[in-house]
Parts: sequence; C-alpha cells; structure tokens
Amino acid sequence: MALQLERLRWTLSYAYTNVPLYRDKFDSAGVHPSDCKDLEDLAGFPFTTKQDLRDHYPFGMFAVPREQVVRIHASSGTTGRPTVVGYTRKDVDTWAEVMARSIRASGGRPGDIVHVAYGYGLFTGGLAAHYGAERLGCTVVPVSGGMTARQVRLITDFRPDIVMVTPSYMLALLDEFESQGLDPRASSPRIGIFGAEPWTERMRAELEDRFGLHAVDIYGLSEVMGPGVANECVESKDGLHVWEDHFYPETVDPVTGEPADAGELVLTSLTKEAMPVIRYRTRDLTRLLPGTARPAFRRMEKVTGRTDDMIILRGVNVFPTQIEELVLRTPGLSPYFQLLLTRPERLDVMTVMVEARPGVEHRDEAGLALRRAVRETVGVRVDVEVVAPETLERSVGKLKRVIDQRGLANRDN
Ligand code: DLL
Repeated sequence: MALQLERLRWTLSYAYTNVPLYRDKFDSAGVHPSDCKDLEDLAGFPFTTKQDLRDHYPFGMFAVPREQVVRIHASSGTTGRPTVVGYTRKDVDTWAEVMARSIRASGGRPGDIVHVAYGYGLFTGGLAAHYGAERLGCTVVPVSGGMTARQVRLITDFRPDIVMVTPSYMLALLDEFESQGLDPRASSPRIGIFGAEPWTERMRAELEDRFGLHAVDIYGLSEVMGPGVANECVESKDGLHVWEDHFYPETVDPVTGEPADAGELVLTSLTKEAMPVIRYRTRDLTRLLPGTARPAFRRMEKVTGRTDDMIILRGVNVFPTQIEELVLRTPGLSPYFQLLLTRPERLDVMTVMVEARPGVEHRDEAGLALRRAVRETVGVRVDVEVVAPETLERSVGKLKRVIDQRGLANRDN
C-alpha cells in the first residue's frame, strides 16, 4: 500500500530525528531511514522491546517536548518500573478514530448505548473505549471495572446495546446476573467487545450463548496505542482486522527474530507523534491472514497467548488457552478456572482448579475427563481439582490465570 510506505518512511525518519534511542539503535545496526524503499525493507531495522521503555522511564521515548503530550498512560508494572506512554492531541484523536472504527466493525452504530466496564485510569481500556464510543456518536456509560452488583443493576436499568469489558469480567457479570436471579439472556446487550486478555472460540460460544449476544474480539497494547490496533468484524468473527493505515504488522520467530508465517506479532506505528514505535516486540503469538470482511486490512488470528505466558511443564509447552478450550469442552465444568503451579519434589506440577457447574453431581467424573483430555490433546499430565461453584476468585479486569508457587515467581509482564 502506497499510503503505508509513505507513512512508514515518515515514521522512521521522524523517530530517527527526534528520539535518541532510535538514532542510536539505527546507527549501531548500520541502517538509515533512507534505506527503507519498500515495506519489506522494514525487516532490516532493529526491534524495540519493553525493556527499552523501562530503560527510558519515564519520558525518554517521547519524540515531542513534554508540553505537547496531552495524555499519559502506564502499565501497572507488577515488578520493576511501569512502562509509560504518551499521546499528543493528534494521537488521542487518531486513537478515538480507530476505536470508533473498531466499535463500528463490532456492529455498533451511532445512538447505541455503550456500557464501558474496562478500567478507567492508567490502564488504556476505559478511556479508549469511552472516547471511541463518543466519537462514533454513542451514549457512553463510563462505569469502569468493579462493583459487580452495581454493573448488573446499571445494565438492567439502562439497557445498553453494547458492553465493553474483559471476557473474564464478563464471566463474573454472568455469575452476578444468575445469583441475583436474573436471566442474562433477557438482558439488553446485543454486542460484547471483549479483549485485553486471550480468550478462545469456546469462550466466545459460552458468552454468546449464555448472554445471547455477539462476542467480538478487540486487541491492542499500550506501548503501541492501547485497544483499537485490531478488531474483529461482527459479520465474519474470523480474526481481527489490523488497522493497517495506522499500525504495520509483521510476525517473527520469537527465538530468532526472523520473519515467520506464524509467530510473535511485531508492530510499527505509522502515524504516532508523541511516541512512535518501530518494530515493537509484542510477545503475542498469532498469524497474519488476508482480509475478509474489510479486504483492505489483513487479519491477525485470535491471539493464542504470549511468549511469556507459555508454561513449560516437564518439557511440554502449555498455553492457558489450551486448557480453557478443554475445560469448556468438558461437561459439568464451568468456565471459572485457575492454574496452580507447584514444585512439591523436583518436578513441576500443574493443578487445574476448576469450578463445577451448579447442580453437577459427578464432579470426580468431570475432573477425570478433563485430565484425560489434557493428556491426550496437550500431551502432559496435570492434576485437576473440581471445586464447588462460586469458590474461585472472580476477575475484575485482566484475569490472573496462573498462580506460580514454584519459587521462581516474579514473572514480569
Ligand atoms: O490490554 C489494551 C486493551 C484494552 C486491549 C482493552 C483490548 C481491550 P495492555 O494493558 O498494555 O493493553 O496489555 C496488552 O494484553 O500485549 C496482549 O498480551 C493482551 N491482549 C490485549 N488484547 C488482547 C486480545 C491492553 N484481544 C496485552 N487477545 C497484549 C489476547 C490480548 N490478548
């Protein structure tokens, strides 16, 4: 695409001129922005990582004087320094635009009521959904995360058309509807725009079925912008169209960094002013496919997980999404589960703690069936503990799926 090449060349030379980190990186790799004559030439430029952002904490990645930055967001930074990102006025405008486009692709229309239950604050989810929905001409209900009983009350009273929330928190809402004796299928939302964490096709089926809505996937990350980098189209729900006029995607082998058909998603911003990113290593695993419902934009497959979410259990690679598929396929088991990693002797053990569906009597049977399914499909033995409904902690935002008690915790995100 000619527009992409023009914007890419602008971004490379803009980053080189205005951000010392990029100048140093390009110089030491022996590349210059003028070497980019074709989109493929981008592969010759160095990667950017989360560590680069940490090393330049807080504002060292900015390409404009701080006074031109109208907004800051940051990751929570469970360990170490948080990563900080900034936006100019034009950047927040672009962001609202790609979010409006994402909501529209999800089936949203001007005049819809949008219930936003993504967290507001340093996390990008809430504010992005908010300004995107406003831009599209919707009525926004800015609830943010938490206070689950109140969420259900507001959904019941205001009758939103759309709910924007993490899929795991949507499950918590499901639970709350039921414990208040309300039928979730009788609730108003016709569309759920779910993202910020991996979720599977099985989870889509569960949420669509039990709420009677279209569950649509939204993707993004704060380092590149926030949500609104890619979004599914409601008419096809076959992976997320990457808004390629603003973000250029590549996939690379996570180990070698060489271009690969399927692998780690690498993103380059094409229009960002405050904090351009060149070949940012997302750590998210996916594959790029041709566009369908919006043919101008390539799709990325639903993200299966992150390179650093992968559990290596006695030599076998396991992604939490694989377990999610199997849990949801096993009769009698609910979608509420956690993975507990321990090291009782010298070997790692993974215990799937999963709630039975209400009213299920043969819990042991369900547990055995899941054990068998994991052994046959993933190829590794796990323990399964089927617990009573409503015993596991519910998510209020991004779900913490894995509890690592092996003594080498401090996994960083
Ligand atoms: O989670 C932005 C966001 C907010 C996206 C609301 C969608 C909806 P971060 O907190 O920076 O930003 O986390 C980004 O979350 O690298 C992925 O690992 C994961 N992630 C985001 N969306 C999806 C998705 C927001 N649809 C990190 N599927 C990313 C799978 C996702 N993982």
